[in-house]
Amino acid sequence: MKALPTATPRESWAVVRELLRPRRRQAAIALGVLVAAAALGLAGPLLLGEIVDRVDEQRSITGPALALVGVAIGEALLFAVGLILISNLGQPVLAALRERVVARALKLPAEQVERGGRGDLLSRLGDDIAVLSEAVVEAVPPLAAASLTLGLTFVGLATIDPRLTLAALLVVPVQVWAVRWYAKRAGPAYADERRVSGERAQAILDVVGGARTIRALGLQPTALPRVEARSLSSVAAVVRTIRISTHFSSRLNAAEFVGTASTLVAGYFLVKADSISVGAATAAALLFIRTFDQFNIVLGTIDEANRALAALARLVGVLQVPEPPPAEPHPGAHVALDGIRHAYDGGPTVLHDVDLHIAAGERVAVVGVSGSGKTTLAKVVARFHTPTDGTVDVGQVALVTQEVHVFAGTLADDLRLAKPDATDEQLQRALDAVDAGWARLDAVVGHGGVELTPAQAQQLALARLHLADPRIAVLDEATAEAGSAGARVLERAADTVLRGRTALVVAHRLTQAARADRIIVMDAGRIVESGTHAELVAAEGAYAALWHAYTADRA
Ligand SMILES: Nc1ncnc2c1ncn2[C@@H]1O[C@H](COP(=O)(O)OP(=O)(O)OP(=O)(O)O)[C@@H](O)[C@H]1O
Ligand SMILES: [Mg+2]
Repeated sequence: MKALPTATPRESWAVVRELLRPRRRQAAIALGVLVAAAALGLAGPLLLGEIVDRVDEQRSITGPALALVGVAIGEALLFAVGLILISNLGQPVLAALRERVVARALKLPAEQVERGGRGDLLSRLGDDIAVLSEAVVEAVPPLAAASLTLGLTFVGLATIDPRLTLAALLVVPVQVWAVRWYAKRAGPAYADERRVSGERAQAILDVVGGARTIRALGLQPTALPRVEARSLSSVAAVVRTIRISTHFSSRLNAAEFVGTASTLVAGYFLVKADSISVGAATAAALLFIRTFDQFNIVLGTIDEANRALAALARLVGVLQVPEPPPAEPHPGAHVALDGIRHAYDGGPTVLHDVDLHIAAGERVAVVGVSGSGKTTLAKVVARFHTPTDGTVDVGQVALVTQEVHVFAGTLADDLRLAKPDATDEQLQRALDAVDAGWARLDAVVGHGGVELTPAQAQQLALARLHLADPRIAVLDEATAEAGSAGARVLERAADTVLRGRTALVVAHRLTQAARADRIIVMDAGRIVESGTHAELVAAEGAYAALWHAYTADRA
């Protein structure tokens, strides 16, 4: 199973930069406010140092004390404004990213989604976006503020005495060591955690989606341990990331010790040599110790930031799936398939040398035993699959399959998916066309609403087709699910809806096939017979055999 791609950090940043571009001014203002706040923050320790000197010299400390209060208030206000500005900036950027990824996901080739696993895509669109939107509010603003303060602190130390900066900078190699140790392990560990969580989602989806099959075949003993195994490896992946960040903090403590010790020792010697006052040395020590807070903020957010970067890489990865070449639809209503060969993702060939031409307005029925390739052919005609070989020349086409999705909402909402500007009268006419006397436009359907029978869901799908009004319609198994009374209703509905359209209908009831203009018979991925009902019955081939068996059954 080949997963969807994951972007490199560089590619991720390129996308973020691009999304930020239209908001450049906003970003510059936010950054400016944060820089001002961080600069004001330096004044606190410096004023405290001034107070120490004044106490030492027995002068009044009212001035610097008042200034200290003012600086504290100003700093707090500026930071608050800066943080709000940054997170206000993040939200629309994230919204734009989400919009892009969802739009791209909707256009992903069906093969790709099946191959990569729907769970993977869902976890990207769900979990990863949630991780990012949390980070945009909770990690990015404090991270930005703390990094700025850290940088400016070393500038502040230099204004007291550049040698203090040098002493304090001894912290850097130890921190670099700690961070490099962490970075080497954290990136892969978090990527792994996200990937394993995607696999767990897929395992759960498989079990929930296939619940009936699993129960029917008594597969619980193998299915549940699989979910359990995936869940356990997901837990193990989380534990790995936690262990890594714990080791990281102990390395950072070592860095703090080295930095504080060297700043204090340097301050001691500078005071002794009369290069700086005791107050200045105090200010330097305070400034430096303040960096611990900032570093702790970075530390507290770095996990989240890392997780967010991994999520970002996965979202940008969705954008990187190459767009399938647009198979140019034309305004015509004919279908022309030539030399079609298809294999699912490297599997065996399931369509061989299929040529199929359907004239505008013609209705073709496809029959054949299970596994002969009917659905595959229908999906190729509907452009749902791009065939491995051959040319597809099909105009505006719509597909109705057995896997009908009823979207949650009112029935009117559901129908309007096919034609957003449809009036209520048009919706009602579409329902009438498919004989859906039971349907009320304002009824709530789908999750939490009225449960529709498979036949009713099929009727809705046909009504949507009617509204979408494509020139070419492909129906697969539209009548297979219903009992025979339901099947007759659906057949009638299909007849009405297909009127005036070019149609390819996978027919499971041969009475439906018999009414088509032409019937093609598939066997093992090839079209083995083609002709009208009368012709094929007379030919006494595969279709005739099917027909005799079918009518004998009914007799
Ligand atoms: N998504 C898929 N991935 C891999 N193989 C597939 C996939 N879908 C179908 N196949 C294989 O392709 C072949 C043709 O299947 P297809 O579903 O087109 O047959 P069908 O005629 O529609 O059968 P049925 O009457 O049961 O619906 C089968 O061998 C099937 O196992
Ligand atoms: Mg099928």
